[in-house]
Amino acid sequence: MPEWRIEKHPILSIPKKTRIGFYWNNQRLHAYEGEMVSSALFANGIHVFGHHVKDGSAQGIFCANGQCAQCTVIANGIPVKACMTKVEENMIVQSVEGLPGLPKATDDFKFLRNPQVETDVLIIGGGPAGLSAAVQLGEKGIKALIVDDKDRLGGKLVLQTHKFFGSIDDCYAGTRGVEIARILEDKIRSYRSVRVWLNSTAMYVFSDKKVGILRDGKNYKVVHTKVILNAAGARERSLAFPGTTLPGVYGAGAFQTLVNRDLVRPAKRLFVVGGGNVGLIAAYHALQAGIEVVGLVEALPQCSGYKVHADKIKRLGVPIYSRHTILSANGNEHVESITVGKVGDDFKPIAGTEKTYECDTVLIAVGLNPVNEFYREAEQAGVRVFAAGDAKEIAEASTAMFSGKIAGMEIARELGKEDKPIPKTWYQKARILNTPPGVEQEPEYDSFPEVAITPVFHCAQEIPCNPCVSVCPKGVISIPGDSLLGKPQIANNDCIGCNKCVFVCPGLAISLVDYRKDQDHPVVSLAYEVYNYGYKKGDLVLLTDYEGNPLQEAVVIDTLISKASRKTQIIKVRVPRGIAKRVAGFRIQGDEVTLAKNEITVDKVPDEAIVCRCERVAAGEIRKLIRKGIRDLNQIKALTRAGMGACGSKTCENLILQLFKEEGVPLEEVTLGTIRPVFVEAPLGVFSNISH
Ligand code: FES
Repeated sequence: MPEWRIEKHPILSIPKKTRIGFYWNNQRLHAYEGEMVSSALFANGIHVFGHHVKDGSAQGIFCANGQCAQCTVIANGIPVKACMTKVEENMIVQSVEGLPGLPKATDDFKFLRNPQVETDVLIIGGGPAGLSAAVQLGEKGIKALIVDDKDRLGGKLVLQTHKFFGSIDDCYAGTRGVEIARILEDKIRSYRSVRVWLNSTAMYVFSDKKVGILRDGKNYKVVHTKVILNAAGARERSLAFPGTTLPGVYGAGAFQTLVNRDLVRPAKRLFVVGGGNVGLIAAYHALQAGIEVVGLVEALPQCSGYKVHADKIKRLGVPIYSRHTILSANGNEHVESITVGKVGDDFKPIAGTEKTYECDTVLIAVGLNPVNEFYREAEQAGVRVFAAGDAKEIAEASTAMFSGKIAGMEIARELGKEDKPIPKTWYQKARILNTPPGVEQEPEYDSFPEVAITPVFHCAQEIPCNPCVSVCPKGVISIPGDSLLGKPQIANNDCIGCNKCVFVCPGLAISLVDYRKDQDHPVVSLAYEVYNYGYKKGDLVLLTDYEGNPLQEAVVIDTLISKASRKTQIIKVRVPRGIAKRVAGFRIQGDEVTLAKNEITVDKVPDEAIVCRCERVAAGEIRKLIRKGIRDLNQIKALTRAGMGACGSKTCENLILQLFKEEGVPLEEVTLGTIRPVFVEAPLGVFSNISH
């Protein structure tokens, strides 16, 4: 069990938990009390949860978020989602081989009325946007109910071990997501007017203006509310390629859930597909958890995520292959390797450029889609509805917090509990926080003085971020125009070497160069957050520039970690003056981790790629229908079953639309599938509050 458990982490503390026993296909295994069945299985090295009824293909988790139903297992006789069901002492868990059977029926039951609950505001989603809105409502004493389908508040914040960008005042810049979740939760719990229902899934906004909420998977409640705030976040987009449904191919959020929430190590060697912030951060989180990151492919000429995120993982030794895409995930029951290839300007793979890398996990991080069903349903039902965070617009969590704050105020005004207008500066701030990254430019190293001690900034792109300016006690750092955007500059030579800017920088992009003892061999202090790798005084490290290009080897002369450093370690090296300002980090992964093992030609055709993972419908089947002139997703569903599965087409709809685009059909000509009336599967009896 230990090799699959994370027992040492540079940022997360490992809580003491009670060990319990459960059964998996008649085998007695151990788990920790309170963890999900999927994590308990992963902690025992089990990644295959069953085999599909249609073709016997192996099934495992994909989203780890209750959205896709790929993880279904039989627990104590009932089919459940392993990623949303807590393991219990002596629970009998079985794999789903084919179609699961139904539990025995009984006629010994009664129908009862469903409990009705009243509130002024129903907030769907307890993530950064929902919590920030609730703070505004709580401060004004407005009655609000937050419902969230997880067992804790924070949404995606609880998966984030890195420090956030933005400004300290507006969105806790320089603080890690997991800590921000705690801060917001503490505030929420202090408001008497705000209630929280965890493990509670909003099911639908019905035409009688009532919202159905399923609590703990078995208690159904009906909520009457004056206003709904949809802060349900986003779901991950998928990609269709041969091997797309193999266990070991996960969404990046699923991976972060296993690693950072459940402290389970689901991989030994990982490959990431997608160079947006989510993919880049997931690669970094993998390194923090002691997982080798073999590489990252991005189809665009450069990563769309922040360059500081990309540079951070490049310095640690992760190669980023731009203008490359995944061609296939290979393996029988589980991922054994990935084949990637170059793409041309038309994003089509270039034959002869294929390379195969050994890995056991492929992360798909190709973007997010807003979970906006509740907004549409509320509008249709005539309930006043607002949206915030990713459910409104996909953006950084810092933006989500700000948009939640604005939505909270808008709702307070709507309910007549706030007279003051919302400050214009809030909207301006929201726009600034949502500014896309600027053009890439090499850091201006000549502008940094070579005297005394000085910070050196390795940020090579303008992004909305300034905590280094805020924390410097001597005003050494400024951003032109006092803006959140713009790159930091040296304002004076008064640096005292306090390291505060080094500790706070979310991109780990500030070093401190100290010329005071030896002008020709200054000491460089580097921020380091994966210190479970155990570098110590006397170790030899390969130093790199800001983009990860090797500079030279150097001996670590000191390491420093303290309460003030907030889990960021300082590694000190002495280097020749000529390179001192260019030293930005050092490798932790050698070339042996990232080399391609062999080269193959891909012999599978993309028509084989599974598009609908629930019903296992391949791209070729749908393409044929599109070529025959079918333009309606409902017809495609009727003919192929694509979209008819347990996930309710949450995963495949975008992929099918992508096929229409590939076939040259404008999306305006396509009729979307009819939305199903409940958000997730539920036993029918809960809707009539059945009692045995
Ligand atoms: S992996 Fe459990 S629902 Fe998607």
